[in-house]
Amino acid sequence: MQTPPIPENSKKTIININGEICKPEDAKISVFDRGFLFGDSVYEVAKTYQGIPFLLQEHLDRLWKSASRLEMLLTVSQNDVSAEVNKALAELGVEEAYFRIILTRGEGPISLDPGEGVKNNLIIIAQEHLPFPSSWYENGVHVVITNVVRVSKESVDPNVKSGNYLNNVMAFMQAKREKAFDSIMLNHKGHVTQGTTSNVWIVKDNTIKTPPLQAGILEGITRKTLLQLAKSDDSLKIEQVNFTAEELINADECFLTSTMKEIVPVTQIDNSPIGTGTVGPLTVKLHSLYSDFVKRTVEGL
Ligand SMILES: Cc1ncc(COP(=O)(O)O)c(C=O)c1O
Repeated sequence: MQTPPIPENSKKTIININGEICKPEDAKISVFDRGFLFGDSVYEVAKTYQGIPFLLQEHLDRLWKSASRLEMLLTVSQNDVSAEVNKALAELGVEEAYFRIILTRGEGPISLDPGEGVKNNLIIIAQEHLPFPSSWYENGVHVVITNVVRVSKESVDPNVKSGNYLNNVMAFMQAKREKAFDSIMLNHKGHVTQGTTSNVWIVKDNTIKTPPLQAGILEGITRKTLLQLAKSDDSLKIEQVNFTAEELINADECFLTSTMKEIVPVTQIDNSPIGTGTVGPLTVKLHSLYSDFVKRTVEGL
């Protein structure tokens, strides 16, 4: 059974709009902002551990990559963004926080043409993060394979983390209708791509597999971290390779990765249990490698 979500308004939240700290109810942005009109924005979601923003530089680098792929001119620097993130987090004053960095292309006339001299809007939402249900990690979750096809690399590359998330929203709505935790999206070739806000992995005959960037996925920072960690452990065999929905269902283990949720075991896909229907040993091992890395990184700062 799914645990009911904690209402957003009961979590402590601070907003920073272009350097001005405000309460959520006072946070206002123009209706002429292109992020609002066209989804013309880029964003990142990251978290703090013990009050420290985790892998902030990696998130800033991906934000800059996303903007560059959308030919979005940036009128702020990474140092500016980093300073505003720290300002919002200091005001929030909690150990475990979620924070979202949004950079829109800016405000202008209602036209697809961004024109010239557009100044970005920088919005940071910092919110207290409460632990996710332990049942996700102990028992695993149920996902469905959605018939909403992942947008292809030849459209707006899913490797751009933009404010246009309707493809993922539609896929998530199907999961919700089917009372599942999330949906797994396939591409036009029938290859597995990812979850709606996570990367997907399987284990088959002791080989750990995750789809390559060419499948049309967001290059998750957790995915990248896990690939690096696994490389330094000789006992782990890991591949970035395409696989089908059938291979996904017939996997020995399956899990999802994301910054906020870390590593979530999947124990059921559609109506089929995965492997033994319980959390697999390699999923547990990888989560423990990841937790050690988090600890080392946070303590080393
Ligand atoms: C579409 C999508 N894929 C994958 C991920 C996981 O990425 P990360 O590990 O960087 O959080 C996210 C995270 O929000 C996402 O939105």
